[in-house]
Amino acid sequence: MRRRHAQRISIGLAAVVLAIVAAFPVAGQSTESFPTAELGEAFPPVLSPGWVERNLHGPDLAILDARPSIRAYAEGHLPGARHLTSDNLRSSAEGVPGRVYPIEMIETIAGRLGLTQYARIVVYGEGSDPHAAFVATVLRAAGLQHVSILDGGLARWSAEGRPLSRSLEAVAPTRVRLTPTTRLFVGLQEVRQAVENGSALLLDCRRREAFESGHLPGAVHRFWKEDLAASETDGAASFRPVEELEEEYRALGVGPQHPTIVYCTSAHTAASVVWSLRYRLGYPETRLYDGSWLEWASHPELEREPPEGPPAGIPLQALQRAREAARSLGSSLMGALLRELKAGGPLHALGVCYEIAPSIAAEHSVEGMTVRRISNKVRNTADTPDAYERVALRDLQWRHDQGKLPEETIEVVRSEGRRVLRYLRPILVKEVCLQCHGRPERIDPAVGEFLRERYPEDQATGYEVGDLRGAVSVTIELDDGEE
Ligand code: HEC
Repeated sequence: MRRRHAQRISIGLAAVVLAIVAAFPVAGQSTESFPTAELGEAFPPVLSPGWVERNLHGPDLAILDARPSIRAYAEGHLPGARHLTSDNLRSSAEGVPGRVYPIEMIETIAGRLGLTQYARIVVYGEGSDPHAAFVATVLRAAGLQHVSILDGGLARWSAEGRPLSRSLEAVAPTRVRLTPTTRLFVGLQEVRQAVENGSALLLDCRRREAFESGHLPGAVHRFWKEDLAASETDGAASFRPVEELEEEYRALGVGPQHPTIVYCTSAHTAASVVWSLRYRLGYPETRLYDGSWLEWASHPELEREPPEGPPAGIPLQALQRAREAARSLGSSLMGALLRELKAGGPLHALGVCYEIAPSIAAEHSVEGMTVRRISNKVRNTADTPDAYERVALRDLQWRHDQGKLPEETIEVVRSEGRRVLRYLRPILVKEVCLQCHGRPERIDPAVGEFLRERYPEDQATGYEVGDLRGAVSVTIELDDGEE
């Protein structure tokens, strides 16, 4: 009922909003320049590379490079650009990772970058990532009024052969006093109220699999990248035309008058949707839940739909892939081992293990995923754990000693700037394993001989039934857009 009402209002206002938005040069509509004289007070939410190049040295224009890597910035940026990333604007607080800093901190940061209240700020990212939108949204929330995003980011800028610079220019620091925009960010309490009394529509913009494995009660889903379209020539993304987005959002019940709270995993990609709705479509009632799913899911007393899902921030599809890969590697190896033991005893089986174990593992490793066996006491040195696995195995051993060995461990970690799913399934020693991993005196002398010859540094003997032998370890590289 509520939603139908909101739709009627949004249809009524659509024309007005269209008229306002049509005054701005928006991505995907034209690459025409935007003359400075016509800018007046309003600064459009998205600017074309052509306009930015012509106004590079214009008064009060500040360009911010929001790409996460300092090194990438040092290797080449827009002339005069200063570096400001999402992570410069937030940190863990109140148990929630990535909470935006209080206004005094933002004022300090803005001052160090030489910004003023009147600065006209253009933020850019790599091309289709949400970094620019996040930085731009935080600056707007802090009270800076003239903030825009460079259409197509650095990817389009460079593809069009526009100038890049490596120089690091000093900017004179400023003293900035800002009056934050009210009603842009929402906190847990307000979101809770919205869930309870339906005062706002909840919009989940994570991947569909993440949404399906657990979301805020009553939330509707739309993946953040739906707002963007990649250019065929340079691959960089632009926001799609306003009229198309309005129509699609209307179908979800999102309109100019209806309060909408947008969230994702950690508010990063949701900022892109907020930029789209609040500043391009002109829906002033759009808000960003900065604690997002990470915060909500960390409160066991809060409801979620469906009630059972994977831990917060773990993409379900990747988790299922990891589980399936670990299970399938385990059963292929076990199947081969039992078959060969039966066919010719341990010495024969040994030859097979030696031959096939590495190739079975390689077979299971495809498309950004590796599957392997690891141990803290290895037979084959190729199975030596990496730094993450070493710590995880030590932790598993400790938990095993406490009699609380979990069936699996799952974590999303950052590695060289990428998000990676790490999955471990413990391997326990069974009776049958002792023939080749048991106490040396229990091992057949011929088998012992073979092992000494093939694996002179073998540490994988002396086990008892029930010991932790190691783990199947699965590593999956996640897309940048998972958040
Ligand atoms: C017939 C002898 C034999 C039996 C029986 C055997 N293994 Fe192994 N195991 C090996 C050999 C040989 C390797 C090294 C394979 C390679 O070179 O990749 C190995 C390697 C491993 C590894 C990889 C880590 C490392 O140390 O290199 C794990 C884990 C493992 N075995 C667990 C088991 C378990 C659990 C069982 C019982 C279910 C078992 N093995 C039974 C011979 C055996």
